[in-house]
Amino acid sequence: MMLKEPEVLFSEEIIQERVRELASRISADYSETEELVLIGVLRGCYIFLADLSRRLKIPRRIEFIAVSSYEHKTTPGTLRLIMDTRTDITGKHVLIIEDIVDTGQTLHYLLDMLGARKPASLKTCTLLRKPDRLVKDVHIDYLGFDIPDLWVVGYGLDYADRYRALPYIGFVNEES
Ligand code: IMP
Ligand code: MG
Repeated sequence: MMLKEPEVLFSEEIIQERVRELASRISADYSETEELVLIGVLRGCYIFLADLSRRLKIPRRIEFIAVSSYEHKTTPGTLRLIMDTRTDITGKHVLIIEDIVDTGQTLHYLLDMLGARKPASLKTCTLLRKPDRLVKDVHIDYLGFDIPDLWVVGYGLDYADRYRALPYIGFVNEES
């Protein structure tokens, strides 16, 4: 099967510029914090988290979490934790790092679950958000870009596990 090249939505330069801006805002906001725990939501976050965390000017620790949806099995949108953080976040300052907020269900679930562990603070950062698709009202503290209802790929994001390593963010038609 021939793979069509995705159409560019955000170039590598635009993404890097925005990541720099987010990193400097986060560094300023947490300048008094002893240590910030960044929790990346696998797998889509891995490139964004790598770039963002390297640009932060504050002490930070990296953790990962993975969730999977039960779609096709039970209730659509029901989520389940498949990998947890290695260390306890109770009393810690935590920032969740997402690649994209689509319906908001993943982030809503994570905010509930991690919030119950009583972190000192719990905030959210996502590179992308699709406002037209939101069904859960989730607050985003640090947002890269709002995008239209398109399937986007690259910079960590995939379509059927393809395209993750593209340096830019593009979109593909469901047929391609
Ligand atoms: P949610 O609907 O906000 O819970 O998003 C669930 C997950 O779906 C995101 O974290 C992404 O991993 C994935 N996702 C949603 N939209 C896209 C997209 O356009 N491209 C790639 N992955 C997406
Ligand atoms: Mg994700």
